[in-house]
Amino acid sequence: MEVSASILSVEKENCIQTFYNLETAGTDYFHIDVMDGEFVENNTVSLMIEYAEYLNSITNVPLDVHLMVKDVMEFIKSFLVFEPRNITIHYETAETEEQLLEWIQYIKDNNCKVGISIKPDTEVEEIYSILPYVHTILIMTVEPGKGGQELIADTIEKISKLKKYIDENNIEIDIEADGGINTENAKFLQEAGCDIVVAGTSIIKSNDFKETIKKLKNP
Ligand code: DX5
Ligand code: ZN
Repeated sequence: MEVSASILSVEKENCIQTFYNLETAGTDYFHIDVMDGEFVENNTVSLMIEYAEYLNSITNVPLDVHLMVKDVMEFIKSFLVFEPRNITIHYETAETEEQLLEWIQYIKDNNCKVGISIKPDTEVEEIYSILPYVHTILIMTVEPGKGGQELIADTIEKISKLKKYIDENNIEIDIEADGGINTENAKFLQEAGCDIVVAGTSIIKSNDFKETIKKLKNP
């Protein structure tokens, strides 16, 4: 699997050194957790903009932007300037499927890949109809809003169900999981069919980034 290191829990002081250490430790992407204080309680906007600016000036590791925001279009525009690999928006923020498809098209028209994320309580069947239009499905394995939570075990079943559906329907799409992922539970996500895992706390709190990322890639 690929690893997308969440920078949410990176301490501000010597953050540049931490980003450098994550890059040399082999992270495939930097996962930027943008929270607006409305869709979720925390507000990380200014910190994530600051970090995205640093990252864009010091590394070529692609940015995996995860928008947990209400005013989706505003934040799509603010983060497109960093030329991210992908921008992932939450299914739950759209009032209608048309609105969701509009946002998806806008991101693609700006040469950026699109991800759709669903919260633990959202059924995977609800997004089947938009799978053909997006590059990645981000399955939240914790309630979005903060780092350092425990992985919710029954979200793994959702990943297996999604994997079965996309295989049966020959849909080309990446499955990414996000929240509470560590070197112990990563194997269950791989077995369920995950292509990319997001990890923040379990990497940042480890004393060997390289070893932890290696284990997350091949659990
Ligand atoms: C939670 C974020 C996750 C989280 C991952 O809302 O979307 O990316 O920061 O961090 P850990 O790995 O600490 O759960
Ligand atoms: Zn995230």
